[in-house]
Amino acid sequence: METVNVAVIYYSSTGTVHALAQAVAEGAEKAGAHVRLRKVAETAPPEAIGSRPEWGRHLQDTADVAEATLDDLAWADAVLFGTPTRFGNPASQLRAFIDTTGALWFQGQLADKVYSAFTASNTAHGGQESTILALSNTFYHWGGIIVPPGYTDPVQFQTGNPYGTSHVVGDGAPSEVTLEAARHQGRRVVEAAAALKAGRAA
Ligand SMILES: Cc1cc2nc3c(=O)[nH]c(=O)nc-3n(C[C@H](O)[C@H](O)[C@H](O)COP(=O)(O)O)c2cc1C
Repeated sequence: METVNVAVIYYSSTGTVHALAQAVAEGAEKAGAHVRLRKVAETAPPEAIGSRPEWGRHLQDTADVAEATLDDLAWADAVLFGTPTRFGNPASQLRAFIDTTGALWFQGQLADKVYSAFTASNTAHGGQESTILALSNTFYHWGGIIVPPGYTDPVQFQTGNPYGTSHVVGDGAPSEVTLEAARHQGRRVVEAAAALKAGRAA
């Protein structure tokens, strides 16, 4: 299989999406990809972060995770974006990073890559699909190839979200089933990107 470069780019305030991102990265690595796990920069003011102790704690705990740069996007054959739901939409921190990609897009450097997304929300009907679909709007503009998990593995029938791995925070920490769905999503994206790469090289 062609070796592919995968960027897992995420935002997380309190660690849930970070845990999903780690599992996605693990799945991609096990499938043979070169993986960069990257958080986007925190843009919230200190007062907001200070209002929730777990937010500040997570920021400290992930201080050593490298921040996403435009080079990570240019380098990648496939990109998986992770974000918590914010009123049914991606977090502004992730959007702020995406909004710096204009020049790359204009040069055509974001086209023809594989894209996929994952999320978390407090409640089961709190906007997981709408958040993932909102990110997909950007993938269309980039000329991306969207690869969702669908029901392509038995674990998908257990977690039940064909749009992208999604966790309900109100149920507690992500279960092994959810983490396995995230690994599956990472793996599937690698397989799709590798097939495209091989096809283009042929
Ligand atoms: C401003 C704001 C808006 C949110 N909107 C929603 C929402 O619409 N639906 C929902 O279920 N949860 C909502 N949440 C909860 C977050 O999605 C949840 O805390 C997040 O998924 C946890 O992920 P993290 O631990 O990676 O930060 C919201 C949280 C904040 C702070």
